[in-house]
Amino acid sequence: MDRSKMKLGVNIDHVAVLREARCVNDPDILNALNVACDNGADQITIHLREDRRHIQDEDAKSIMRYSKLPVNLECSINKDILNIVSSLKPHRATLVPEKREEVTTEGGLDVFTFSDEISYAIEQLHDSIIPVSLFVDPSIKAMEASKDLGAEMVELHTGAFANIYAMLHSNLSHSHHSIKELELPRYELSSQLDKAIQDIVASAAHAKKIGLEVAAGHGLNYHNVKHMMDIVEITELNIGQSIIARSLFSGLAEAVKEMKRLTTR
Ligand code: PXP
Repeated sequence: MDRSKMKLGVNIDHVAVLREARCVNDPDILNALNVACDNGADQITIHLREDRRHIQDEDAKSIMRYSKLPVNLECSINKDILNIVSSLKPHRATLVPEKREEVTTEGGLDVFTFSDEISYAIEQLHDSIIPVSLFVDPSIKAMEASKDLGAEMVELHTGAFANIYAMLHSNLSHSHHSIKELELPRYELSSQLDKAIQDIVASAAHAKKIGLEVAAGHGLNYHNVKHMMDIVEITELNIGQSIIARSLFSGLAEAVKEMKRLTTR
């Protein structure tokens, strides 16, 4: 079996979340950038949101300027944002859906309803020589649509898998963040987890077969990430929350190193 190298994209948005919570300049996002770069990240991932709730335009500019590693810039298909991204010229743009009221990116891009808008966005980014990945739910139809729209890559949304995993294997179900629709008997959660993994496996295989590169991300952590490692078509993982959360206790260097160790093939 060909087990090509896995790239680790470290998402540092949450460092900016903490900074913005106090409207100060601490923690410094460029410190986080350098520590991630020096301790095992293969790429830096940031999301310039329309509501600027974490990464600001100045952050994106500085990260583009000072990053020793390729930058994967996540953004919506909003015209103003696309103009900024086009001028920043990241190594790749990942198109994601955005709703102002959401806590984080919930669900993949709707590549069916918004096909025209996504196709224009891809064209604009390609005009600026920026390769494009689409953040999509793991389904064969979404892989086909992503290819038809002209993307080079897909990032499979692992949120559904991660939610089921957390309800089955962590204390989430006993907390006030318990996911109501997943308050199910363990055998039911187990079978939903198998199905979620199967959807990722089948989508990754299909995407690769039709010529797309395949990444995965959202909700991946030090426990559940092992399920991604045997899916040979997935060659990149973008991980943020769990790394930044662990860094509170171990420091960011150790947190990145440990994730790199777990995601090395
Ligand atoms: N990939 C994409 C496209 C995302 O939108 C996010 C979350 O912002 C991530 C990866 C990282 O997710 P997490 O912070 O849950 O690791």
